Amino acid sequence: ARVDKAGHRHFMSKEIAEQPTVISEAIANYVSEEARSIRLPGEGIDFRALNRLTMVACGTAYYACVTAKYWFEQLAGMPVEVDIASEFRYRQPPVTEGTAALFVSQSGETADTLAALRYCAGKADRILSVVNVAESSIARESDLALPIHAGAEIGVASTKAFTCQLTVLLLLALKAAHARGRLDDDALAERLLTLRGLPAALNQAMSIESSVETVAQRIANANDVLFLGRGMMFPLALEGALKLKEISYIHAEAYASGELKHGPIALIDEKMPVVVMAPSDALFDKTVSNMQEVMARDGKIILITDQAGAAAAGDGVWQTILMPDVNPMLAPILYAVPAQMLAYHAAVARGTDVDQPRNLAKSVTVE
Ligand code: G6P
Repeated sequence: ARVDKAGHRHFMSKEIAEQPTVISEAIANYVSEEARSIRLPGEGIDFRALNRLTMVACGTAYYACVTAKYWFEQLAGMPVEVDIASEFRYRQPPVTEGTAALFVSQSGETADTLAALRYCAGKADRILSVVNVAESSIARESDLALPIHAGAEIGVASTKAFTCQLTVLLLLALKAAHARGRLDDDALAERLLTLRGLPAALNQAMSIESSVETVAQRIANANDVLFLGRGMMFPLALEGALKLKEISYIHAEAYASGELKHGPIALIDEKMPVVVMAPSDALFDKTVSNMQEVMARDGKIILITDQAGAAAAGDGVWQTILMPDVNPMLAPILYAVPAQMLAYHAAVARGTDVDQPRNLAKSVTVE
C-alpha cells in the first residue's frame, strides 16, 4: 500500500505524531488482555536458561540497545553487552555458553548487523531479533523474531521505529525480570499497567511541539550543540545528537553528564547550546551541578524536564521544555519525542531535505 503524508509537511513529522498509536499497537501485541503477562511469538524465550545477553545493531537501533541495557541490568539483573555491528563482527568476540544474541534493526537488512548475526549463529544459545520488517533477512535468520509493529517508516531519520524498538525491548526486560524471579506476578502486572499508560503520556507530550519549535529556531544557527544525559537519558542524548546531525547538519555530540568535566567542558561558551535531558529522577541533583558548571562558563542550557525538575533547576536556565510527569522506567521513550522534534524543527528552520538527508540511506545493505 502507498503510504502518504496524511496532511503533514514531511513523513518525519507524520511518523513522530503516529507514536502514541503504533506504540499502543505494539503493547497490545505483546500484553495479554488481562494485562498480567507478556506473550512472545513461537516458543518464546526461557530467560532462566540464559546468563548473558549480547545486543548488536547500527545507528538509531544501536541507541535503543544501549537504553535497553539499563533495563535488563536494573530490572532483570542480567549481564548485558552492547556493541555496534561493524565493530562486533570483526573483533572475534567470544560468545560463551548461555548467551542469547539479540539483533535490533528496523529494516532487518543492514549488512553489518546481518553479518554479526551470522557470526553468532551456531555460537550463541539463541539468536533473537527485534525488527520492523517481518520478512527481512535478519528476521528469517533468527530463532525468534520479535516484530515492533511500527508500520512503514519512510523518513530516513528513524523516529517511531526507535520508540517501538524501545517498547518491545522493555517488554523483553520485564519478561526476563519475571522469569528470573526479580518481579513476582503482581509486580509484573503493576509494571504492565504503568506501561499501558505510555500511549496517553505520549499523546500529552505531543502538545510540547510549539515550545520545541521555538527553541529549535533559536539553535538553528548554532555550529555545534552538546547533549547531556545521565542514566537512561545518556543513550537518549546520543540519539538526540544523532537526529540533529542527520537532518539539520548541525554538528552535535552527546556526553554522559558525569563526563562533562573530563573534556567537553573545555568547549563551553555562549555560542554552543547545551541540551540537558533530565526528568526529576534520583540523579537529578547531580545534573543540576553539571548545569551550574555550564552556566558558570556562559553556556546556554536547554533543559528538557518535568515541573519538579524545572523548579529544582533554579535560575539561569536559558530555555526549558516542560514534559509531562512519567514513571522513570518509561522516561527514555517519552523523552525521545522532544529530541525528535528539536531535530525536525531545526532542520525545517534551516531548509534542509528532512525526509531525504544528503549522503544517508534508509537501509544500508552494503558494507
Ligand atoms: C541507516 C539509517 C538509520 C538506521 C541505521 C540502522 O543508517 O539511516 O536511521 O538507524 O541505518 O538501520 P536498521 O534498519 O538496521 O535499523
